[in-house]
Amino acid sequence: MRKGIILAGGEGTRLYPLTKSTSKQLLPIYNKPMIYYPLSLLIDGGIKDILIITTPRDNLQFRKLLGDGSQWGISISYEEQEKPNGIAQSFLIAEKWLDNSSSVLILGDNFFFGHGLIDLTKKTFSNEDSATIFLHEVIDPERYGVAKLDTKDNIIDIVEKPTSHISNWAVTGMYCYDKNAPIYTKNLKPSERGELEITDLNKIYLAEQKLNTEFLGQGFAWLDMGTHESLIETANFVKIIERRQGIKIADLDNLRLS
Ligand code: TTP
Repeated sequence: MRKGIILAGGEGTRLYPLTKSTSKQLLPIYNKPMIYYPLSLLIDGGIKDILIITTPRDNLQFRKLLGDGSQWGISISYEEQEKPNGIAQSFLIAEKWLDNSSSVLILGDNFFFGHGLIDLTKKTFSNEDSATIFLHEVIDPERYGVAKLDTKDNIIDIVEKPTSHISNWAVTGMYCYDKNAPIYTKNLKPSERGELEITDLNKIYLAEQKLNTEFLGQGFAWLDMGTHESLIETANFVKIIERRQGIKIADLDNLRLS
């Protein structure tokens, strides 16, 4: 069974002073803590075993909030990341826990919403031998890792924060890998900024011709909740959907176990 990892460490410097004494991923997004959104995406996608990686400072708070997961019919484990040494470091921290399983990693500050998303994640997560990244169209690709595509929309490269135009398809913070992710990560060297880069891991899968792409096109929302603007924008988005359409987003506390 594919296992899920939520990376919820980091320093959150762009949100200072909000994050000086607490984790970004515990901050409220309308009526729930931020981490509920990526967590419910994994649960809705059928993931039963989830590891939450936090800073040493915040680990206890996450345990208090989420417990062992049995209230939602899943199992939640916890690990710490001493320093924010990069997203790909997740696989070194999680290696033992993964125990040769395939995985889906999601960043704790990423928000996804859209018609058909649950069907898409269920389908992608259940194909255990696959590695898949999810692309979302953005107007400011220079801020992201961006997919270079050929004329048939096959991915041929990933460029981190491109200075010239490559495409508008940004690589989002949700990544599916086969069981080899920890082994491949061990071969990565820290980048100039001293991090184990998820783009470098994706490039290994790309070179092995094992990297699939899913396009989150029109009708999908992808927001990262890392700035004051995006924090309030996402909160408003959730409020509008919940109040106007009566749809509940990431409503874990009212989830009925089937
Ligand atoms: P970022 O937003 O890049 O970093 P940050 O959360 O520390 O914020 P800031 O840039 O404002 O200082 O991280 C994206 C997500 O990944 C976020 O949920 C935190 C997480 N993350 C870690 O947990 N560990 C890491 O080493 C990195 C690089 C990110």
